[in-house]
Amino acid sequence: MRYILFIIAFIVFNLLSVKAFEIIKPIPEKISVNKEKAYLGKLLFHDPILSKDRSLSCFSCHDIYKKCGTDHLPIAKGLGGIEEDANTLTVLNAVFNFAFFWNGRAKDLKEQIIFVFRNPLELNISREELERRINNHKLYKNLFKKAYKVDYITEDLIADAIAEFEKTLITPNSKFDLYLKGKVKLSKEEKEGYRLFKEYGCISCHNGINLGGNSFQKFGAVIPSEWKP
Ligand code: HEC
Ligand code: HEC
Repeated sequence: MRYILFIIAFIVFNLLSVKAFEIIKPIPEKISVNKEKAYLGKLLFHDPILSKDRSLSCFSCHDIYKKCGTDHLPIAKGLGGIEEDANTLTVLNAVFNFAFFWNGRAKDLKEQIIFVFRNPLELNISREELERRINNHKLYKNLFKKAYKVDYITEDLIADAIAEFEKTLITPNSKFDLYLKGKVKLSKEEKEGYRLFKEYGCISCHNGINLGGNSFQKFGAVIPSEWKP
């Protein structure tokens, strides 16, 4: 019985490798975004008004201009410079992932943001305090009125605007994506690397639009790990 299961698994795995070409998809050039909401989200993303002591913004840990949407630290530094327990994930192309955080505890970008608000080491802000601050802010008050047609700004709308901005943080048309679309050729070395990537089975986990981020995997598949996300 075990033998048969093993053989079936082996065949499925190999079929996947053969089909490899189709299981990697280029990043779409455009996804639909509401510009007014995204602009509002952009301001909020960079604004430390979101953290309890006004010291951190999303941008503090997710530098989208110089650090690929992360902080380039092994472990994130939270409020008061205290180390968190995880490495910062990138916000670039995050919209294409099927679940959020290392352990997938948030189901979408909006829910992910609410976790950040409540996290004592991240923004550490209550719903009431956040709504009070944003509703007392003239510019935000006006922009929310325009984008969402509301007089009272809820936490849910704040998260919605930031999530809308995150949809703009995508990186289409890398050389590899252009290759997948048949628009450029890979060099000899690049082609060989891609062949090995498929042959060694990297592609069984690294596939889809983000070359990963679409399955749950055990930490320490090769070298055992004690870390529990
Ligand atoms: C103190 C640093 C810090 C701040 C501030 C911060 N983040 Fe993060 N972010 C992290 C860390 C660390 C993780 C991974 C944590 C985990 O998985 O447990 C993460 C994960 C994420 C992810 C998940 C990506 C994925 O693919 O799963 C998104 C999206 C994100 N952050 C967006 C935001 C937004 C939006 C804000 C502001 C509202 C924000 N972050 C504020 C450090 C930070
Ligand atoms: C069993 C599934 C699996 C296989 C097979 C696999 N990986 Fe991964 N890979 C992961 C997971 C899960 C992560 C994220 C966790 C981590 O960084 O340890 C990751 C992370 C990575 C990263 C870091 C990405 C980043 O954003 O920091 C690289 C690079 C990478 N893998 C390359 C490879 C290569 C090359 C191969 C083949 C030789 C391979 N992987 C095979 C699951 C896999």
